[in-house]
Amino acid sequence: MDWIEREKRVILQTYTRQEVVIERGEGCYVYDTEGRRYLDLVAGIATVSIGHSNKYLVERVKEQLEKLIHISNLYYTIPQIELAEKLSQITGMDRFFFCNSGTEAVEAALKFARKVTKKKKFVSFTGDFHGRTMGALSVTHKEKFRMPFMPLVEPVEFAEFNNVEDLGKKVDDSTAAVIVELVQGEAGVYPAKEEFVKALFELRERYGFLVIVDEVQTGFGRTGKWFAKDHYSIEPDIMTMAKAMGSGIPIGCCAVTEEVAEKIEAGDHGSTFGGNPVACTASLAAIEYIEKENLVENSQKMGEYFVEQLEEDFENVRGKGLMIGFDVGDAQLFVRKCLKNGLLVNNTSERSIRLVPPLIITKDDIDYALEVMCSLK
Ligand SMILES: Cc1ncc(COP(=O)(O)O)c(C=O)c1O
Repeated sequence: MDWIEREKRVILQTYTRQEVVIERGEGCYVYDTEGRRYLDLVAGIATVSIGHSNKYLVERVKEQLEKLIHISNLYYTIPQIELAEKLSQITGMDRFFFCNSGTEAVEAALKFARKVTKKKKFVSFTGDFHGRTMGALSVTHKEKFRMPFMPLVEPVEFAEFNNVEDLGKKVDDSTAAVIVELVQGEAGVYPAKEEFVKALFELRERYGFLVIVDEVQTGFGRTGKWFAKDHYSIEPDIMTMAKAMGSGIPIGCCAVTEEVAEKIEAGDHGSTFGGNPVACTASLAAIEYIEKENLVENSQKMGEYFVEQLEEDFENVRGKGLMIGFDVGDAQLFVRKCLKNGLLVNNTSERSIRLVPPLIITKDDIDYALEVMCSLK
């Protein structure tokens, strides 16, 4: 019996997987159990930013594994404090709560928003994806994901993404927070418009709600700046992060301003694993590597090049940095054809392809990917 048959017997079938068993990775490439090589333009869904099995990260994590693996938040640990200090430099936020995934970061954000404002309503947007636990799912737009699990957290209203007028109708004095993806990822890579973001922050002034910017997918250089918020020169009240934060080692974070932090007390939230020394060390190593190798700049430059080249052959090319979307006739078929030809890409809808490669990608890798994709469309 092969691995795929074995999986089908024992794993709960919540995922639609590609027909391949990936065994190892190096840089931008991964290898299956037959030894076939693939250029990875998915990077574990915008996660393995500094490349597969990055040697610097591996060494740092190994050292930490030998020192201390886990102790919980009953005690102080050094990597957690160092990581928070580093994050405060690159995010401009003041205080950090660590968790283990994106959906957990969103859960924390929603709880903090209610605690701080003493209000109940959340406003999210059409197309937004924020995770699959009950709170995060409540502010995730897709009905197929939400409906089987009703009732979820209420009240929640969805305003049309990039529609200032509709947003104005949905927020009011009872709004605790508006949660937004500045570049929608799961919806197919759609950036928020400048005037829309500006209007959101003007409405914040009028009604006093908090703005939660969900940077789970867009963070850590993905969009050609450290964070998507840096494209808009805004100061969110709360920011969520995960995915590329540990470049593949699970870690998430909910960052807040000092004003929010002042109203959060011991016991308001917690996590056994959150801020674990191994995960925090991985995140520190990933951030240091991004800084050392100028990967934010590489993301911006390579992203621009990739988009320019894609525009010659594909429709509706969009994105920021190395977060890129474009349309094809049949996206599922295109993904399967790419796989057969040594390329991992991902579809977000029937027509839409998403590319979120490691930030270390080179022009040669991109040229190779373009050659394969153009021959298959
Ligand atoms: C913007 C955004 N928020 C939250 C999540 C949930 O993250 P996780 O899958 O780590 O729970 C995702 C995952 O795709 C995401 O893209």
